[in-house]
Amino acid sequence: MKKLRVLLLGGGGREHAVAWKISQSEMLDQLFVAPGNGGTQEIATNLAFSETDFEALKSALLDHKIDLVVVGPEAPLVLGVREFIEQDAEIGHVKIVGPGKVGAQLEGSKSFSKQFMERHNIPTARFGEFNASQLDEAVKFLDSFNPPYVIKADGLAAGKGVLIIDDKQEAADSLKEMLLDGKFGDAGTKVVIEEFLSGIELSVFVLTDGKDYVILPEAKDYKRIGEGDQGLNTGGMGSISPVSFAKGAFMDKVIDRVVKPTVSGLKKEGIAYNGFIFIGLMNVNGEPQVIEYNCRLGDPETESVMPRIKSDFLNVLWNCGKGEIAGSELLIDDRTAACVMAVSGGYPESYEKGKEIKGLSNVDGTLIFHAGTKSNDGKIITSGGRVIAFTSLAENLEDALSKTYESISKIDFEKMYYRKDIGFDLN
Ligand code: AMP
Ligand code: GLY
Repeated sequence: MKKLRVLLLGGGGREHAVAWKISQSEMLDQLFVAPGNGGTQEIATNLAFSETDFEALKSALLDHKIDLVVVGPEAPLVLGVREFIEQDAEIGHVKIVGPGKVGAQLEGSKSFSKQFMERHNIPTARFGEFNASQLDEAVKFLDSFNPPYVIKADGLAAGKGVLIIDDKQEAADSLKEMLLDGKFGDAGTKVVIEEFLSGIELSVFVLTDGKDYVILPEAKDYKRIGEGDQGLNTGGMGSISPVSFAKGAFMDKVIDRVVKPTVSGLKKEGIAYNGFIFIGLMNVNGEPQVIEYNCRLGDPETESVMPRIKSDFLNVLWNCGKGEIAGSELLIDDRTAACVMAVSGGYPESYEKGKEIKGLSNVDGTLIFHAGTKSNDGKIITSGGRVIAFTSLAENLEDALSKTYESISKIDFEKMYYRKDIGFDLN
């Protein structure tokens, strides 16, 4: 059996979880992570370059004789990392999990993804799109909806480009700020206005080689900073997998109405897509509606999804990279994974870094995935807003959560915060 040399791009909790899973593979020769974090360095070799530094990536691919690149975050994909590798004679043989520039527009442009859904009859909220010369039309379009109004910057805006506003005047003011005053910069020079969907959210993950696909365990993410889903949006404060309502007739609808037409739509349009599709769904009274696509895995969903995969995940990634995913199967652990994220006090607004994390070695029976940490003089210190994800597996949600919370109580860093109600809306 060929042993693989793998490079994973990214440095968050998602990448630690994927690295953890890959590191268990019998097919692995050596794993590198760039830039990685204080957790990935325990199980892989961290390489000190940014995930969007393509020249450094090329040197690493050559120096370390890499067979497979797995791309964690969206930025390198939207910037064309696939094309950069494929079109270079020296590294063009390296296999990649992650779509090309056009496929990555499913995430990189709300307008592209809404139009794609429209072309393929994929259920999504009614919408309109407007550019800087169409402010009056955009304001008028608000009249065709009941509040709250959903306004989205077209481009990538670090997760902040979605506004949900109750007051019409405020919505009109925000449209002006985005279209004319440069709020969100280039990302907001085009906007999508869409119908507000009321329901419960779900993240579904598909890994496709553009022809066939496998579906990973689904998860629910908790995005708001405060308990009861109150307060500012964050990257995600915790996740649960499986999700109690994601089964039977509902999942059949997700597969028939969303997953299949998405994969076949890409193929029909000649968009070679080799990588993850993250489908953000709303369950509206039992009917799935797509809120968004991402061209990567979710964070912190991945921290509860990876622990439930029993199969050799590197094998499936390798098959995907080669364009041979047909016939791949994922064996899934029936148990429930509960992930809770410990964050720096103040996050998602300003916060301090460099705090020593104490007590990690006291945690037992819970997986620890580092998100924003680095090592410093033999100590692990905080280096980001989201710091560490804790994931426990148990027979039911209640037991998984209580184990996770027991483990979190064993660690500490100055101004540590976490939500104590993850999973509150599931049973
Ligand atoms: P997005 O960046 O498109 O994922 O949007 C961020 C968050 O805004 C989503 O996770 C939802 O919670 C919320 N959201 C986006 N679009 C809608 C919508 N049409 N109706 C209700 N909530 C939405
Ligand atoms: N947890 C949501 C995301 O990764 O976009």
